Amino acid sequence: MNDTFLRACRGERTEYTPVWFMRQAGRYLPEYQAVRGKVSFLELCKRPELCTEVTLQPIDIFGFDAAILFSDILIPMEAMGLQLEFHESKGPVFPEPVRTQAAVDRLLIPDPDECLPFVLETIRLLRRALKVPLIGFSGAPFTLATYLIEGGSSKVFLETKRMAYQQPELYHALLEKITRCTSRYLQAQARAGAQVLQIFDSWAGILAPCDFERFALPYVQSIIADLRKMTDVPIIYFANNGATLLELSKTSGADVLGLDWRIKLDEAAKIAQQHVLQGNLDPIALFLPKEELEKRIATILAEGRAAKGHIFNLGHGILPQTPPEQVKIAVEAVHRLSRR
Ligand code: CP3
Repeated sequence: MNDTFLRACRGERTEYTPVWFMRQAGRYLPEYQAVRGKVSFLELCKRPELCTEVTLQPIDIFGFDAAILFSDILIPMEAMGLQLEFHESKGPVFPEPVRTQAAVDRLLIPDPDECLPFVLETIRLLRRALKVPLIGFSGAPFTLATYLIEGGSSKVFLETKRMAYQQPELYHALLEKITRCTSRYLQAQARAGAQVLQIFDSWAGILAPCDFERFALPYVQSIIADLRKMTDVPIIYFANNGATLLELSKTSGADVLGLDWRIKLDEAAKIAQQHVLQGNLDPIALFLPKEELEKRIATILAEGRAAKGHIFNLGHGILPQTPPEQVKIAVEAVHRLSRR
């Protein structure tokens, strides 16, 4: 059992810096494409044997120090009673956006054991197969709400901010329901065997600090506080594009803060001294020539030494166009250059 990642999450000393990549199971891998050629993405998310297979692919190929459950942050939103589609070009789509009190009232708070058994079964299968720790995850309520309110991906998030500003009670009622669903969902993942939990706040960075503080952070704090009552699994909070929110995110209650590449880790460490940091290579830096890529990795490792602990990751998800050989180079370089 390689528990380097788990120990790093807890801020303990490790022989080298553990590494995993957000979206490490996915379209840049021909092995993933082969599975996806047979089933749709949504279908794949509901087949535990296939989810297990694609979760294991990057571990076997590259030797990552942690596995992340294959699923999607929007899967539990379907269990809340919403229609969810994935379009090749547009990404996720909710054909009936949630913008009224009646629509919020209709949302269910699903029992994960009943409504999301395939996720929990995947976790159990993975725990039997894995020799590295397993990360479970969810979206953060604010990020999930943007998809529900906008009806899919967005650029300026007009509908989300408009609801928060003009109908704060409606906004709060929606976020409360998403929070309760997410809280139960993460607790069920921990019970099923997830050893670390990551909360993805992919769109936190579109908020002014004063809005992040009111409209996003309290819901994350509530989920983490609930988790602390039933489990001691380490919790990672990743607020994408969140360098300017760090002073606030450090009150999330998480053990580890995920960072994108827009801030240096030593600068971040000055603000979040009590936290282990995770990150933060620009995913497109994987397209650098080998020597430059390795230099970039060495710099991040050096900056990471200023933190209480460091887990190497990308600053956001790996792009589908990434050459797998470059991933191999990066993982090997992190292991070699960080060895103590
Ligand atoms: O990290 C992993 O390897 C685990 C699997 C995982 C997926 N999505 C698989 C996926 C995880 C952790 C996610 C999280 C997720 N999903 C986030 C948060 C992280 C981030 O990137 O900010 C968000 C915002 C989503 C919502 C989502 N799912 C979008 C916007 C899209 C379309 C854009 C895209 O990248 O295709 C998805 C689809 C999706 N989720 C795919 C995968 C592998 C591609 C689906 C396919 O195979 O066609």
